[in-house]
Amino acid sequence: MTTPATLSVWRNARLATLAGGSPWGWVAHGAMLVDGDTIVWAGPEAQLAEQLSLTIRATGRAIDAEHDLGGALVTPGLVDCHTHLVYGGQRAREFELRLHGASYEDIARAGGGIRSTVAATRTASDAALFDSALARARTLLAQGVTTVEIKSGYGLSAEHEARCLRAARRIGQVLPLAVKTTCLSAHALPPEFDGRADDYIDAVCAWLPALHAEGLVDAVDAFCDHIAFSPAQTRRVFQAARRLGLPVKLHAEQLSDQGGAALAAEFGALSCDHLEHLGASGVGAMRASGTVAVLLPGAYYFLRETKLPPIALLREQGLPMAIATDHNPGSSPTLSPLLMLNMACTLFRLTPEEALRGMTVNGALALGLVDRGRLAAGQRADFVVWGLEHPNELAYWVGQQPSARVVCAGREVTA
Ligand code: NIG
Ligand code: FE
Repeated sequence: MTTPATLSVWRNARLATLAGGSPWGWVAHGAMLVDGDTIVWAGPEAQLAEQLSLTIRATGRAIDAEHDLGGALVTPGLVDCHTHLVYGGQRAREFELRLHGASYEDIARAGGGIRSTVAATRTASDAALFDSALARARTLLAQGVTTVEIKSGYGLSAEHEARCLRAARRIGQVLPLAVKTTCLSAHALPPEFDGRADDYIDAVCAWLPALHAEGLVDAVDAFCDHIAFSPAQTRRVFQAARRLGLPVKLHAEQLSDQGGAALAAEFGALSCDHLEHLGASGVGAMRASGTVAVLLPGAYYFLRETKLPPIALLREQGLPMAIATDHNPGSSPTLSPLLMLNMACTLFRLTPEEALRGMTVNGALALGLVDRGRLAAGQRADFVVWGLEHPNELAYWVGQQPSARVVCAGREVTA
């Protein structure tokens, strides 16, 4: 027997719906009607009685729960569209080395960097990998993240990539937040393939179908840069993804302009991510293919980069900009979505509203999802009730977490 969906009212709220054309999609005295996992109506509280009677007449059901939010701020649930949550170990020592002058590239070329995390990931047990990633996901959830993307990329063999992706999938099964998995096997060259990058790409293309057949892959990503894979190698990974009907994304133009964004756009990429070295032709190609520009201020900050992504051009060309944590042990060891909103404003000069759209509606788009990211009829009932007055505060407080009541698919998450 299936339990009937709950019909609930959330009223006396200040809504930043991010829907419609007005700033923030602001509704000063708002309410929402939620049926099961879906918002059936969001709007001014003055219209609630009418909406309620329409719904009750149409469904023959009664209201199961009414939540008076006492004038609190409600936004869509946050979408963290780029993370590497599954890995073993940490790289604090490399942070020290970089502070003493070594560059991220120097450390990678000397066999540290991603490779050192690969070694720690391979020796971690399944349980340790899962438990550590689960704890990180719980931290994000408690801070308002209702959908998270999790990449592989620290296993770098068929066996270890599968272990990482299984851990990621399981997180979506045990926590109420939604998980999208991305296969990033083309992240770095594992030591057993030294000097044989093309052979490694062959191996990646060969193991991808099995990972996909096991239901572990929602999208395919690669790291296209001078310390990682060439555009030609990236193209081969994308061709393998295309053969399986999988969408692609790309770590593009992070450390240099390799033309990765244009290549990804040719494959209709969902997103290109990082983009500090993105040029005008890359922006044009992304615009033509509807590719989302995912900006990662945490990595920019932590690697002490000085070259900014071409924000003005992205804005002028109307590309959707998303913001994510890029949580990983090497370039962005943060689990604070709101700190990323702050950095998107202070470092990248986004407006607080652009930053919030970047971690809601545009973050969802970067994952190919149009059913979330706004408070509007038909959207998944993923939202956060904040202990704040105005949504601009989400990007304002630095290193402080306001209280957050998190609702995933219509159900309030209990800590
Ligand atoms: O998104 N750029 C490549 N990948 C990660 C960093 C990986 C690492 O250093 O462990 C990123 O920044
Ligand atoms: Fe990344």
